[in-house]
Amino acid sequence: DNPDTTGRIKSALRVIPNFPKPGIMFQDITTLLLDPKAFKDTIDLFVERYKHEHISVIAGIEARGFIFGPPIALAIGAKFVPLRKPKKLPGEVISEKYILEYGSDCLEMHVGAVESGDRALIVDDLIATGGTLCAAMNLLERAGAEVVECACVIEVPELKGRERLRSHGKPLYVLVE
Ligand code: PRP
Repeated sequence: DNPDTTGRIKSALRVIPNFPKPGIMFQDITTLLLDPKAFKDTIDLFVERYKHEHISVIAGIEARGFIFGPPIALAIGAKFVPLRKPKKLPGEVISEKYILEYGSDCLEMHVGAVESGDRALIVDDLIATGGTLCAAMNLLERAGAEVVECACVIEVPELKGRERLRSHGKPLYVLVE
């Protein structure tokens, strides 16, 4: 990747200390969305990487995977599947629980959205511990898809999410640390 481009993307992000809780440095992508060039560069980097990979489905993780996933899906001609927090999807779902630092959460996907033989890219704004992406991979694999890669705008390397994904045997692609 062109370091100027990723540098501009990084500059368009902002960090809000102590949100939503004391001690958390919140990585805010809304400022990137205010900069049409930086937002387009972000999408274009993903599109360049995946346009010849025969990806048939982009799975976007609630909530911010819903911002970055659909433009990539449209550009590469893949379907878009939302992976949602519990009780949001109206149809029949499969669910995957995952453990957070305090408590647990769950992702759901509509039955029939993904079929065996689908080649999937999972998209989110950020990887921290990697728990969310691992749950997403489990959902897609249970539905018979092959997960090609996970793609995020931001990685928080201290939280070792990349290693957790590696134990699933899946690569991670991120634009900025
Ligand atoms: C954030 C982020 C990822 C997840 C990453 O979502 O958008 O989805 O955390 O964390 P992990 O790698 O440790 O699993 P958040 O929990 O803020 O949910 P939201 O997008 O619904 O606000």
